[in-house]
Amino acid sequence: MYNFTFNIPTKIHFGKDTISSLSELKAYGSKVLLVYGGGSIKKNGLYDTAMKILKDAGLTVFELSGVEPNPKIETVRKGVEICKNEGIDMVLAIGGGSTIDCSKVVAAGAKYDGDAWDLVLDGSKVKAALPIFDVLTLSATGTEMDPFAVISDMSKNEKWGTGSPYMVPTMSILNPEYTFSVSKKQTAAGTADMMSHTMENYFSMENADCQKFMAEGLLRTMIKNGPVALAQPDNYEARANLMWAGTHAINGVVGDGCSPAWCVHPMEHELSAFYDITHGEGLAILTPAWMEHILNDDTLPMFVEFAKNVWGLSGDDDYALAHAGIDALKKFFFETMGIPANLRAVGITDDRNFEVMAKKACEGSKGSFVPLSKDDIVEIYRAAF
Ligand code: NZQ
Ligand code: ZN
Repeated sequence: MYNFTFNIPTKIHFGKDTISSLSELKAYGSKVLLVYGGGSIKKNGLYDTAMKILKDAGLTVFELSGVEPNPKIETVRKGVEICKNEGIDMVLAIGGGSTIDCSKVVAAGAKYDGDAWDLVLDGSKVKAALPIFDVLTLSATGTEMDPFAVISDMSKNEKWGTGSPYMVPTMSILNPEYTFSVSKKQTAAGTADMMSHTMENYFSMENADCQKFMAEGLLRTMIKNGPVALAQPDNYEARANLMWAGTHAINGVVGDGCSPAWCVHPMEHELSAFYDITHGEGLAILTPAWMEHILNDDTLPMFVEFAKNVWGLSGDDDYALAHAGIDALKKFFFETMGIPANLRAVGITDDRNFEVMAKKACEGSKGSFVPLSKDDIVEIYRAAF
């Protein structure tokens, strides 16, 4: 286990009726920028509820709406402008990962003199940020308790993750009821995303039993509750288990001390940068292809553990067991959760960008569990095609 500093200063209010905690924002100033997406929070009544609490708390609310899935830098710039022009004191995101990520970079951009894209390319340039608050409405990214944000510039086909301790939310409200209205597609994609975070951390050569066994527990939680949430969208316990597991998949609990650089995420970010696909679907399609590509004598023990401890499989032939574990993952994603099984099924019908995408993804995945060359990544894209 390598050295790490574990420090997550996010206060979490988890459960029913926690929305009233929004009144705590008044301790941070008087002007709040409310950031949301394409309207789901208006349909489910959350917008009205939040507005009432904010106004009763004496806060003046400014709005940035229309944050896109795979949030765009243009929207971030709009938010930064509002913050600077209006002297905003804090940012409140209500929505999924895209809305929260956008808010994080808006909050940092408000304290930065140059263009916010600089902060996407280099998180170390973030030297301050407005306080960030959020109400999470989709369990997936873990952004509610992590320092990361992922922003796209489609004009350049670029989608990059950035991170800074200043972008960790001050407070997150996690009410599983708010995820009842998440569609089947996004529920499945979100489950795949949190599973991918856990697996990116899990597949490692470090002897970190504590993190490994916790990661196996998280994966089992997601595998058990994902299908329940799909079949019964308003099953509180399933939604609650997914929500809390998703938060822990990326907040450092299972990654600190053992996680290598991630590699499936950089590969997926290229797919989204070129084709604007749903992040979790891209991850689900790429992960089994990546696993099959890197299975060898060195990685075999990890895949055997994965098959046994995550999927409850057994057998004497280690390679057969490893393949059975990967097959179980495929079956879970593509049959149980109904996620499209290949790139063509999400609309990527040509392979002409694979070389350029692989070159960029290869830079992003340096130091991963099994280092991947550009050619390896092209092969993985082709296997997933
Ligand atoms: O925009 P609205 O109208 O709110 O609709 C959204 C959107 O269309 C909808 N939705 C959200 N909550 C809902 C709901 N619909 C009904 N009921 C609700 N309660 O779902 C759609 C997708 O939302 P989005 O925020 O894009 O999804 P997600 O949370 O999966 O976020 C994906 C983004 O996060 C990035 C991804 O790359 C992608 O850009 N990631 C962020 C990470 C981080 N900050 O740590 C890590 C991840 O690996 C990931 O890369
Ligand atoms: Zn992800």
